[in-house]
Amino acid sequence: MEPIVYLNGGFVPHREARISADDRGFLFGDGVYEVIRAVDGALFEAGAHARRMAAGLQALRIGSLEGGAHALLGVAERLLRENALLEGEATVYLQVTRGAAPRRHTFPAPSTPPTVYVSATRFQPPAELQEHGAAAITQADVRWGRCNVKSTNLLPNILAKQLAAEAGAFEAILVRDGVVTEGASTSVFGVSRGELRTHPLTPHILPGITRAVVLELAAARGLRVDETPLRGAELGRLDEIFLVGTTTDLMPVVVLDGTPVGGGSPGPVTRALQQGYRARFHGAARSLLLST
Ligand code: PDD
Repeated sequence: MEPIVYLNGGFVPHREARISADDRGFLFGDGVYEVIRAVDGALFEAGAHARRMAAGLQALRIGSLEGGAHALLGVAERLLRENALLEGEATVYLQVTRGAAPRRHTFPAPSTPPTVYVSATRFQPPAELQEHGAAAITQADVRWGRCNVKSTNLLPNILAKQLAAEAGAFEAILVRDGVVTEGASTSVFGVSRGELRTHPLTPHILPGITRAVVLELAAARGLRVDETPLRGAELGRLDEIFLVGTTTDLMPVVVLDGTPVGGGSPGPVTRALQQGYRARFHGAARSLLLST
């Protein structure tokens, strides 16, 4: 079945979706994006994704999106329906750029409409790696100073992720000025003597939606959380490391730069949080409540 996508106000077959060669997303990476998971037609943490996109649009001063980022959630739901994705797992991709205009660094005329693109795709979580754990490498974080904006401009992330893949690893864990910031497409957590460590919310990391859910789960379990940034040099002494993200869920890291992490297999804190996350994700906790 030919997928239906949304582009600039219309629902069209994917192969008919066309954007201008002058689009500033294409020319400059001048835009923002989101990836949202859906289970049985329900978008997971949709409000949080829309709020983050709205904040990114504001940060980049892309102001003329009709209805704002929240209006795109309705588009996303319709795409799930139109693409027969109301059962099982899917991802929705949303992108807004500053629109199409002759190439010039400064903003185009205020009347230039943003380019809005949304697609929905069947998704299979990386179950093997979630179960057995993944390898990761460390890489220098050479990104700009506003990584809290989910910009489509992902060159440093792409180069780091490619190096990871070439090393047989799933993720590149980024280190800036000796400090672990996040992964190329994930947030990073460490566990030391039962306590969670993760980078605080600063412009040096994306405010991850999964990160926020994991912190809620940790609080509900009475786990201590320390948001003092991890030093790269501390990584080798951690009991556990795990990655979190929209398409990653919670993934244990069992080998870092070729050396086993902790016991070399997924640790108990990672496992407990994985379980809690799955329950929350699939609404098991909710249906349990409803049935009592
Ligand atoms: N990546 N850090 C970076 C740099 C990311 O790109 C992502 C998400 C995350 C995790 O954020 P969240 O939990 O909100 O998905 C952290 C998406 C999935 C991607 O680029 O495909």
